[in-house]
Amino acid sequence: MHPGLKDGNMSTLKLSFKVNGKLTSLAVAPNALLVDVLREDLGLTGTKAGCREGECGACTVLLDGEPVNSCLLPAMKAAGREVTTIEGLVQEDGTLHALQQSFTDQGASQCGFCTPAMILNAKALLDKAPHPDEGQIRQALSGVLCRCTGYRKIVQAVQNIAQGK
Ligand code: FES
Ligand code: FES
Repeated sequence: MHPGLKDGNMSTLKLSFKVNGKLTSLAVAPNALLVDVLREDLGLTGTKAGCREGECGACTVLLDGEPVNSCLLPAMKAAGREVTTIEGLVQEDGTLHALQQSFTDQGASQCGFCTPAMILNAKALLDKAPHPDEGQIRQALSGVLCRCTGYRKIVQAVQNIAQGK
């Protein structure tokens, strides 16, 4: 028997992974997508489900630190790995991550639908390259569509962190 199969229930698999630093185990359908497990089973609705086709980037989460479209990823592919969602960036005392604060200060969020994905892509970039230039920032954010802001304030919000402002 596959080690992930739950005893007595062949229709679900047991998924164990780290979510925002916490070890998490739950039963999921074999074909469940990560975006749905995060939103519906774990209540992490900061991850947005937009196109569900890998086009809009709104469903971005970090998988072992790398941005992935969670609408395309079978949840079981996250087994044994670490997923970070936008909720995981807030400290326990409620303090926002510097990027979250910068987006707020810069007015870089309008409807907010793209914002979690923008911030997580920016975090992945800054974790690798703390002082990216504008081109690198735009490149890192290019997989996420924003219908509202025209991108300028989003890029500025990331630049402010990159420049230590
Ligand atoms: S919802 Fe995943 S890319 Fe659009
Ligand atoms: S703020 Fe509305 S989609 Fe970006």
